[in-house]
This record gives sequence, C-alpha cells and structure tokens, in this order.
Amino acid sequence: MTRTLTFAIPKGRILDEALPLLAKAGIEPEAEFHDKKSRALRFATNHANVSIIRVRAFDVATFVAHGAAQIGIVGSDVVEEFDYSELYAPVDLDIGHCRLSVAQPADLADEDEAAISHVRVATKYPHLTRKYYEARGLQAECVKLNGAMELAPSLGLSRRIVDLVSSGATLKANGLVETDIIMPISARLIVNRAAFKMRSAELAPMVEAFRKAVGVKDAA
Ligand code: PRP
Repeated sequence: MTRTLTFAIPKGRILDEALPLLAKAGIEPEAEFHDKKSRALRFATNHANVSIIRVRAFDVATFVAHGAAQIGIVGSDVVEEFDYSELYAPVDLDIGHCRLSVAQPADLADEDEAAISHVRVATKYPHLTRKYYEARGLQAECVKLNGAMELAPSLGLSRRIVDLVSSGATLKANGLVETDIIMPISARLIVNRAAFKMRSAELAPMVEAFRKAVGVKDAA
C-alpha cells in the first residue's frame, strides 16, 4: 500500500504565487481546491499518493515539523520565528517577497533608543522581535497578536509593532512609518528532516523538481 505524502501550503498571499510553482514542479490540486466556497481542507492532486492541505502559514511549519505533513511551503519569517530543528528548508522559492520591519507612529520616529532600556512591541513574531532588540541592548516586552498589528499604536497597546511589510500600504493607512528592516523575507520549501531520510525516494525528486522550477541548479 502506498502511503500518502501530505503537502502543506499556506492560505493567503503566498498561495497565488505558490500554485504556478507547484504546477511547474508537476503537482496540480483537484478542481475543488480552487472553489472558494469549498470548506474542505485536504485535497487530492494529480498524484495518487500526494494530497495537499491548506492551512495558516504558522500551522504549515507546525504540521511539517511534527511530521503530520512531510513537505510544505512557508515564508522564511515563519521558519525563523519557530526555528524548529526538525525543519529542513532546502529551496528559496523566490516568491512571497516582503520584509519583517519595525514600525511606529510618525511622531515617535526620532525617539532616542540610547535613553531607554525597554520597549513594548505588538507582534506575531515575539522570538524574532526579542532577538532583534536584544542585539540593540534593549529588552522587548512583546504583546502577541495574530493579525492587525497596525491597530496597536493608535489604541495604546504598544508604541511599536513588528510585522511584515510588502507595499507599505497598510502602515500608511494606519498612520505608521517603517523605522527599520529586521530581515528580508521570501517563501521556502520546507521538509520534515526525518521524513526526508525515511522517504527520500519520494521527497528527494520533489525537492529537485522545485529547485528546477525556480531555476536553482546547485544544492543549497
Ligand atoms: C500582512 C501584514 C500586513 C500587510 C502588509 O497581512 O501582516 O498587515 O500584509 O502588506 P502591505 O505592506 O502591502 O500593506 P496580510 O494581509 O497578509 O494578513 P494577516 O494580517 O492575516 O497576516
């Protein structure tokens, strides 16, 4: 009996860019996947032994790290935030480009960091935020939010936010300015390390297909 290989892909912005790449790598989800009204979460593909699950970006990393899914696509922000040792990220997919940045209301832009020792930050990325501020000699108290971080300063939750910035339109619409870029982000192919060893006959050619799909010749 052939065991199913589960491929986790994120809902949201990366999805539109990920689908053509999946197709280039030879994986096509069943028609229901494209039906916006469908409440299904797991889908068949053109490969009898490969199914696709569509979950939140942070959950892609969790499913793959625990081996519930063997392979997935997720932003490097999520890979870095979780820092799971079970995740192998062999291919930069060159899609989903954005940046993880610090932002704050325009009138706070020139606050002197040397005069403070502690900052309060609303973010979905407490690990990366603490690390960033630690390197600057500041202690970050993170208020964990799962979205709409841009509301935090105007409602007095925190003066600063750390969030993804793409066009900058969301910051602008909420009266915030980007004050520093923590890291550039792009989507990665991620594989469960144990599965990569145990099921290399299936997973290694799949990783190779993605490398070819993005035009990368050599192993990362
Ligand atoms: C992301 C991010 C920002 C926004 C930035 O949210 O959290 O809010 O996009 O994009 P921009 O610079 O082009 O305006 P997304 O819309 O992906 O939804 P989310 O809040 O659920 O993560």
